[in-house]
Amino acid sequence: MGIPDEEVAQVRAATDIVALISEHSLLKKSGRRWTGLCPFHTEKTPSFSVNAEEGFYYCFGCQASGDAISFVRAMDHLDFVDAVRFLADRAGITLHEDQEMGRDHKRRSEILDAMERAVTWYHERLLSAPDAGPARDYLRSRGYDGDIVRKFRLGWAPDDWDALAKALKLPEKVLSDSGLGFVNRRGRAQDFFRGRVLFPICDPSGRPIAMGGRILPARPGAAPPQRPEPKYKNSQESPVYTKRRTLYALNWAKQGVIERGEVVVCEGYTDVIGCFQAGVPWAVATCGTALGEEHFTLLRNFAKRIVLAYDADSAGQSATSRVYEWERKHEVDVVVADLPGGSDPGDLARTDPGALARAVKEARPFLQFRVDRLLAGGDLTTAEGRARAADAALAAVAEHPDDLVRDQYVMQLADVCRVDTTRLRQRLEHMRAYPGQTDRIGGVPGGARRHGRRTEDVPARDGRSSAAPAAPADPAAPAALRPGPGLEALKLAVHRPDDVADRVHAVLFTDSVQRQAFVALLENDSVHEAVENASPEVASLLRRVTVEEPMKGDPDLGDPVDSVVAVLLRGATRRAMAELERESRASAGDDQWQIRAGEAAQVRLWLDQLDDPSAGRDAADRLVIWLTERDRGE
Ligand code: UTP
Ligand code: MN
Repeated sequence: MGIPDEEVAQVRAATDIVALISEHSLLKKSGRRWTGLCPFHTEKTPSFSVNAEEGFYYCFGCQASGDAISFVRAMDHLDFVDAVRFLADRAGITLHEDQEMGRDHKRRSEILDAMERAVTWYHERLLSAPDAGPARDYLRSRGYDGDIVRKFRLGWAPDDWDALAKALKLPEKVLSDSGLGFVNRRGRAQDFFRGRVLFPICDPSGRPIAMGGRILPARPGAAPPQRPEPKYKNSQESPVYTKRRTLYALNWAKQGVIERGEVVVCEGYTDVIGCFQAGVPWAVATCGTALGEEHFTLLRNFAKRIVLAYDADSAGQSATSRVYEWERKHEVDVVVADLPGGSDPGDLARTDPGALARAVKEARPFLQFRVDRLLAGGDLTTAEGRARAADAALAAVAEHPDDLVRDQYVMQLADVCRVDTTRLRQRLEHMRAYPGQTDRIGGVPGGARRHGRRTEDVPARDGRSSAAPAAPADPAAPAALRPGPGLEALKLAVHRPDDVADRVHAVLFTDSVQRQAFVALLENDSVHEAVENASPEVASLLRRVTVEEPMKGDPDLGDPVDSVVAVLLRGATRRAMAELERESRASAGDDQWQIRAGEAAQVRLWLDQLDDPSAGRDAADRLVIWLTERDRGE
């Protein structure tokens, strides 16, 4: 893209991030970092922190994080290139992007022209070509009339190698840059979409930038295909198309969205069309990716209320784990439409359009939806069942960042599950103070359960039937950010790398994001590089630990490295032991059993030795080796 990497790095290095941010918020020096009120959200006590040496900021309140460039982007609503230009200007650096820019612009407009012509051509084919008969029949069978076909500019890609390439005579470069085709191994231009119904994807102003193509259902009695094809094939990303920033149908929905201040977000193209047919013409869909940060950035300009209309089975799960964070950061409300089991909005629009419109109208806050689900999955007819349901729902409530909101749910749960509010509040506080350690408190029956799996946990639909005693863990928890030994270990790894070398190991982290962050620190030469190469989630965590001071040593408690390693090691070992015991029970009677029992006895011995001043270090090393081998499945 536009600006060469070296120049971006040069601009970053030349920018005094403390001076830059000080233009928006008063920063005070505190130890090695700077703190102040967060410029991204309203607060009374400072939770915003800047690490000047590494050039990162992080807010403990709203989790905003980044470097000088992302700060300018967020503050001034600029895109990357404009933010770099702004900072370059400030620092007196001249960028060499100008002639590049002209070329870039030309390339984009060639692609846009090609897309427009292709959409028109495919659309004409669908309307009138003889070979499009089955496609027309299929669309009619789905309840799409001519108006729908024309409004959404649906198309038909003939089942030929190069029908489009031949008809439009596009230069090879434009054909492949736009994703409409490619040059095959024999050097001939070939179409990307073949034998598919096409759904053009447009930018918000209505210019086609990509397409999704659906295969026709197999004709009854037809031979099965030689190679099974995916139901949908979508355009690759291109200079005009970025999936994570695009919402299908926003161009058509825009008007309705603005009028209502609300947008319905679906998973599929046909769901959106279904919504339009059911009298909900303010619906959009993500394009084969999960709803993410950049979709929110786009949507917040149009609506303050975001209704998730996912199929009944994936609602609340595919709904991302960062909903609360985004609600706060972008000042939007996220609510969920509860669709009848097994249906998606597309189906429902056919079978019962009134029910679809109603589900959208009666959409409930994200947390309410999840609490209701968890309660519905429990057995509220017995005392134990109610306690267990309260416990599961409370764990979901505990993730909400706002204490007033949490308290509303506490009262609701107390009522529904007939539990004392004070008790629930205490338990909630405990859950928040010691996330993941709910088994320490014995107050509520059924409390002595621990999360069975890590990240894959989904709200149990039927709390009773799951054989493993796993509490329905919460998909919405940014677990990696919770205070605890994992986070502490990462801070130490950033601030005292030499002291943790050989002592903290990847297997000690249960949280996968924390583990990835730790591995990133090991594999890169500097924190900066680690952040640069990491996924957004891991990068954000790393920036946070960079601005945080690790715990200090204490004459009574000793060096935090020792205590953090000990807690992590015990935790990881206990979990592995529990697993080993499960395997052992499962293999009771066969010859593996002896081996497992011996292994468990050895591990217990090492655990006992951990506090021993002479044997402790050695036992710790052996446990780490054992854990690592188990982790690798050896
Ligand atoms: P679904 O499988 O839910 O399809 O995929 P759908 O929208 O209900 O479509 P119909 O009603 O069967 O025609 C939802 C979305 O996931 C992406 C597409 O964007 C689709 O709209 N997807 C699905 C793919 O990209 N590839 C696939 O093979 C399937
Ligand atoms: Mn569908």
